[in-house]
Amino acid sequence: MDPSAPDFFADPYRHFADARRSAPVQCYQPGMWMVFGHDDVSQVLKDRGLTSTERHTLDAPRNLAIKAAGGTDAYLLRPSLSKMDAPDHTPLRALLARLFTPRAVGSLRRAATDLVAGAFDRHAGGEMEVIESLAHPLPYQLTCTWLGVPALDDDGDIRRWSFEGLQMIDPFRRPEQYREYISASADFAGYLRELVAWKRSRQGDDAISRLIAAGDAGEVITPDEVVATIHTLFLAGFHTTVNQIGLSVLALLQAPDQWAALVADPELLPNAIDELLRFDPTAQFMIRATAADYRVGGVTIPPGQHIVAWIASANRDEARWGSSADQLDLGRPDARYHLAFGSGIHSCLGMWLARLELEEVLSALIRRFPKASLVDEEPRWRSTAFMRGLESLTLLLPA
Ligand code: HEM
Repeated sequence: MDPSAPDFFADPYRHFADARRSAPVQCYQPGMWMVFGHDDVSQVLKDRGLTSTERHTLDAPRNLAIKAAGGTDAYLLRPSLSKMDAPDHTPLRALLARLFTPRAVGSLRRAATDLVAGAFDRHAGGEMEVIESLAHPLPYQLTCTWLGVPALDDDGDIRRWSFEGLQMIDPFRRPEQYREYISASADFAGYLRELVAWKRSRQGDDAISRLIAAGDAGEVITPDEVVATIHTLFLAGFHTTVNQIGLSVLALLQAPDQWAALVADPELLPNAIDELLRFDPTAQFMIRATAADYRVGGVTIPPGQHIVAWIASANRDEARWGSSADQLDLGRPDARYHLAFGSGIHSCLGMWLARLELEEVLSALIRRFPKASLVDEEPRWRSTAFMRGLESLTLLLPA
């Protein structure tokens, strides 16, 4: 399967189905493997015998491309939450988990409700481009509130930096693209360093203040690592949510029977959110690496290889979800077992925040605009295999 094929983004699921049938564990190129079946993806995400560090994969194809673009081994080996294994990962994860308590996440609901209401008010009775008017500002402004920093009127740089920084994970990019991503990451780190310095004299009951306090107390992170940690949180939480809002609205409006069912019974919403995450997850894959011979799906993968675990394919595997795997079914009883937020020690820390944002958008949409419809027949896709998402999505919102 080749995610750089021109027709890939419009319907990756057809390609995944072919891969599951013909070669559910396959070598993409020396140094890089891919797995597609639900059980194999779940095994790879959870298995502590695999590593999230780059210790054994400094010469895997993606890392060679990053190094050709100016990245160093030290850059690839920098400790960050998603690049650590247990036991190193455990205390940092525990520290961050304290920032995502139900109280901290719940305290953002009021702001989310107001933001969503304001965006819909401005477009009621007309057209709304959802990505620009709602899907972007919602996670950006909530992230700023949660971090305890003012939201900028022009967040263009932050959008670009956080989007490009995230693409460093993607092994299907061209070497010159990694050059742009490295420079974006450096610019973003510079901005965040200034932000943390600014916050030092303005501490409150927010995530950055708590990280600064933890850094100063020498607890798990050093003051320098505070910046790296905020960097991770921005990368992990911003475009993922933007994309998932767009994908979820699109999927619902493309399935008129499911839309009607949700309008008729808003109580379906929590399960609907799981089903939407199963049906079209923005984080299409995650990567692990082998430190020794590794057996998955009856195949032995040698040491020093990246394994691309295709979450999006696992979420549509008929062997797990039955013959309706490719259909959106908001009442699916086991939808919550999707892998959209990962699995195992690295599973998504921000999932309750992401769910809150999806809930606010979708509940306001069905309640206020039960006759909403899509204006774009052909959605415009962002050309990235890793973070599936829409460039734009225009709705008609009859009052
Ligand atoms: C719909 C939106 C989101 C999706 C689909 C998503 C998906 C994921 C996935 C698949 C992982 C697993 C990574 C792995 O296995 O290596 C992950 C990890 C993570 N996510 Fe999310 N995420 C979303 C929103 C957020 C938000 C809003 C935040 C925080 C503000 C966040 C913070 C994190 C962090 C910090 C990790 C790393 C956890 C670790 O390595 O221990 N995510 N996310």
